[in-house]
Amino acid sequence: MDASMFPDDGVNSWNTVMLLYESAIKKFRTKVEILNDEFQQVHQYNPIEYIKTRVKTPESIVKKLKKNGYEISIPNMIEHCNDIAGVRIVCSFTSDIYQIAEMIGRQTDVTVVSIKDYIKNPKPSGYKSYHMLVTIPIYLSDKTVDTKVEIQIRTIGMDFWASLEHKIYYKFEGNAPEYISRDLRDCSEIVSMMDTKMLQLNNAIMQTKLEEKEKEKQMEEKRHKNNWKENI
Ligand code: GTP
Ligand code: MG
Repeated sequence: MDASMFPDDGVNSWNTVMLLYESAIKKFRTKVEILNDEFQQVHQYNPIEYIKTRVKTPESIVKKLKKNGYEISIPNMIEHCNDIAGVRIVCSFTSDIYQIAEMIGRQTDVTVVSIKDYIKNPKPSGYKSYHMLVTIPIYLSDKTVDTKVEIQIRTIGMDFWASLEHKIYYKFEGNAPEYISRDLRDCSEIVSMMDTKMLQLNNAIMQTKLEEKEKEKQMEEKRHKNNWKENI
């Protein structure tokens, strides 16, 4: 989105800009739901447990601009606030995260601006998630606007951890006692171990299913052969 497309002329610009972010979220949600449905058809399982979306509140936008030393204006918010449209995709397994990220990146109308892999490089707090900043075109009556969306992809375990950590962070206004921060980091490790174990279990289940299918196929072929022999 080019900030000069929206001169800071008050309510009209504000409404148009917010409409763009809301539309971008709608469009993105549908994209992800289609990917999930297709995955279900091909692989017989849903990689996505749930999707959460939100548009940043005006208060939070103002707070972020101020925190980063920018004047409060619509062009500044378009330019410097990357997470006005937010989509959170919560998956079952870590491997799903990378598959979904790849599928999103391959879509021709999605432009990947940047990626932050906090799974490979967790934050000092213990935070883990895969972040993508993308733009998607929104077609208005008289112009097309590439609109930014911040995507966070994580497992259920990572989501559970992040929501609790977020509550604690707010409770202590960012100054939690050291033992709490340490326990949270430990919990993050436990969540990672659980994610790894659950993935291994799932792979074992899938493997067993595959072997059963193969056995059935072989039995069926044998039956078919025997029938054929009897018939000649
Ligand atoms: P923000 O100003 O917080 O948006 O950070 P940023 O622009 O530097 O981007 P970053 O990738 O660090 O974080 C973006 C978002 O990820 C945040 O708004 C949170 O939703 C989430 N996040 C990042 N770090 C943490 C963390 O330590 N704990 C939790 N609970 N969430 C985090
Ligand atoms: Mg944010």
